[in-house]
Amino acid sequence: MVEHSVATSRATLRNGREATIRPLGEEDRAALLAFGQQLLQDDILYLEDDFQSNEIISRLVNAYQAENWRQVVAEADNQIIGYSSVRRLVGWSSHVADIVLLVSPDWRRSGVGVALAQAIFDAARSLGVQKIIVEMVEEQQSGRAIFERLGFNVEGALSRHTRDRQGNYHNLLILSYHI
Ligand SMILES: CC(C)(COP(=O)(O)OP(=O)(O)OC[C@H]1O[C@@H](n2cnc3c(N)ncnc32)[C@H](O)[C@@H]1OP(=O)(O)O)[C@@H](O)C(=O)NCCC(=O)NCCS
Repeated sequence: MVEHSVATSRATLRNGREATIRPLGEEDRAALLAFGQQLLQDDILYLEDDFQSNEIISRLVNAYQAENWRQVVAEADNQIIGYSSVRRLVGWSSHVADIVLLVSPDWRRSGVGVALAQAIFDAARSLGVQKIIVEMVEEQQSGRAIFERLGFNVEGALSRHTRDRQGNYHNLLILSYHI
């Protein structure tokens, strides 16, 4: 069994509320499904993983102790209000990890994203990677804004690289940060 290296912490948000930042656990299936249900249509369209799918949520929760994958949630009022993950790539990119960051629409612009990002950067360091990347479609302006503010740069753009659940194509941006 893999020792989980993500520490639990508390964050005071800009709206004065408190959130707990902690590892995703096996008991979080229902709460993570509920989190997925209240995402915006654009979030669902632009995310690689469908957070409204039972199957995807099960895959995430079942991986809570995976060796090369760390998943962190933000919790307030006994609800999951944010999710982030870092996963080490394989083969000749095993020194690189990719990140996902997602915050509940009702809690955006309160600092949840930054609090989760800090925890997930610590998790990336604990995985021993040297570089982290985040992929997002060009339309995800908030994602680009927060990661650029955190020091990431756009390293590449792939044209018409993703196809959303309505069949529309999007350009994919790859932002990176060298640890
Ligand atoms: C991107 C996302 C995670 C940001 O979460 P958040 O909790 O709102 O972020 P924070 O409150 O910590 O914001 C930190 C900073 O990021 C920038 N930012 C965040 N959202 C922004 C937006 N919509 N427009 C412009 N800047 C934005 C700002 O600089 C902000 O600081 P400020 O509020 O003091 O101006 C959230 O909007 C989200 O879940 N979006 C959909 C999913 C996504 O795009 N994920 C990224 C790719 S995986």
